[in-house]
Formats: sequence, C-alpha cells, structure tokens
Amino acid sequence: MEGLEIIQAFFILSLASSLAFAFASDPSPLQDFCEADPNGSVSVNGKVCKGAKLARAGDFYFSGLHIRKNTSNSAGLIVTPVNVAQIPGLNTLGISMVRVDYAPNGGLNPPHTHPRASEILVVMEGSLHVGFVTLNPENRLITKVLYPGDVFVVPQGLTHYQ
Ligand SMILES: *[C@@H]1O[C@H](CO)[C@@H](O)[C@H](O)[C@H]1NC(C)=O
Ligand SMILES: *[C@@H]1O[C@H](CO)[C@@H](O)[C@H](O)[C@H]1NC(C)=O
Repeated sequence: MEGLEIIQAFFILSLASSLAFAFASDPSPLQDFCEADPNGSVSVNGKVCKGAKLARAGDFYFSGLHIRKNTSNSAGLIVTPVNVAQIPGLNTLGISMVRVDYAPNGGLNPPHTHPRASEILVVMEGSLHVGFVTLNPENRLITKVLYPGDVFVVPQGLTHYQ
C-alpha cells in the first residue's frame, strides 16, 4: 500500500510569452481550437485539426488525475501525462499537464529542461524538494522544499529537478 508519505504533484506546463530565456516564442494560434485528429499522418505546428464541426466535449476532457500510481520502479517516479494524446483539444494551445507520483524517500525526477515551456507545479500531498539552476554567468541553484498547497515555478529553458 502507498502511504501518506507518497508525494504527488501536478505540473502545468505552459508556454511563456517572456523572451527572457529564449530568442523566440510561439505565436498565438490562429483558431479558437484545433482538436487533434488522432488518425492524421502529417504534422504542421502540431497535429491536424479534426475540424470545429466534429468537436465533442470528450475532445476537451480527461479523467483520472486523482488516481495514485505505483512508484515501485528504479526511478521511484511515475508520470501520468495529460497532453494532446489524452486531450485532443490541447493541440496547438501550448499547455499540458502531468501528475507525478514520487516514491517516498528517494523518488527522483532527474535534472532536465523544457526548452519551450515554463513549468508550474503544486504539491498535493507529502513534501517535495525542487530546484533549478540559473544561466551563466551566475549559475545559481535555486531550491526549496514544498508542502501541500505550495506552488513553485520553473522558468522556461532552465535545468530543473524534483
Ligand atoms: C507495485 O508494483 C510492484 C512491482 O511491480 C509490485 O510488486 C507491487 O505489488 C505493486 N504495488 C501495488 C500496491 O500495486
Ligand atoms: C480514426 O480511425 C478509426 C479507425 O479507422 C476510426 O474509427 C475513427 O473514427 C477515426 N477518428 C477520426 C477522428 O477520424
């Protein structure tokens, strides 16, 4: 059984409009939405749109982020993605979300970057050590231990971990 020590966090990835850490940013979509055609074989700035006339509530819906996942693996971490593969209506919107379950005492999401996205996370249960490194020349490590209800932001493109 997973105990109360299990740490859960939601990450919301969103494209930042800030140019502080990149030399380009994505323009706004040219349509209200573009729910992805799962059968589309070409990709043009995302997946092919099914078309507004075919839009259904299910294209904008996902259920299951309340489900705790088994963290018994070598990384002590498991990701439940909520991106365009789960919600076709996320196509071209520039945002996605994941739930991450970390094993108590040692679950690790190792250092990585999202070159085109900032990240905001909220801890739902347990505690979570987070951090990111600022760019040259400072190369400062910014870290904090988070508790339920705490929110932390990782600026676009910076190496970070939990
Ligand atoms: C979690 O996965 C491990 C390894 O597959 C398994 O041994 C264990 O029974 C699972 N735990 C639960 C609560 O399902
Ligand atoms: C995708 O292909 C499957 C299998 O041919 C079909 O059942 C489904 O309706 C298609 N979906 C769309 C959005 O065209």
